[in-house]
Amino acid sequence: MKHYWKIYFFTLLQIGFFIYSYILYSSNSFQYRNDYKSSSAQQGELVWQKYNCQSCHQMYGLGGYLGPDLTNVISVKGKNNNYILAIIKSGSIQMPSFNLSDVEKINLIEFLKSTDASGKADPRSFDSQFTGMISNK
Ligand code: HEC
Repeated sequence: MKHYWKIYFFTLLQIGFFIYSYILYSSNSFQYRNDYKSSSAQQGELVWQKYNCQSCHQMYGLGGYLGPDLTNVISVKGKNNNYILAIIKSGSIQMPSFNLSDVEKINLIEFLKSTDASGKADPRSFDSQFTGMISNK
């Protein structure tokens, strides 16, 4: 009898949990990768995965560290589509060459355009604070 408050309290927590979950999952703030400009860009991400580009390159700072971060590579001065496709085709001393189909090339370029349009990822373009957080320069 005297433990009834525990049952009430537990029930209250459960109701709170369901209300919170409902609000969380019905809110529009969860839209996965809605920054894609086109489905061609989505296909391009599959090309990126298929050839394991992330094993050597970073996207948004995440990935392998042998090659440079490619989030914004498409908008770097002097590095246009042709430059990117040429380096993929010929490779370099450290980068293997890849034989992409025409469709894969188009989609990959669209993917790189969409990541570029989504923001800046180069850590050097931010100031780091003593707390470990970053802020715009
Ligand atoms: C084995 C590691 C490796 C893999 C896998 C790899 N790369 Fe690279 N990539 C590199 C390295 C290292 C460089 C720097 C080359 C240099 O300066 O000689 C590079 C350079 C590049 C550049 C030029 C970047 C710049 O700023 O000039 C592009 C674009 C690129 N890679 C795209 C890709 C794509 C797309 C893929 C997947 C299809 C890929 N790479 C897979 C290692 C790799």
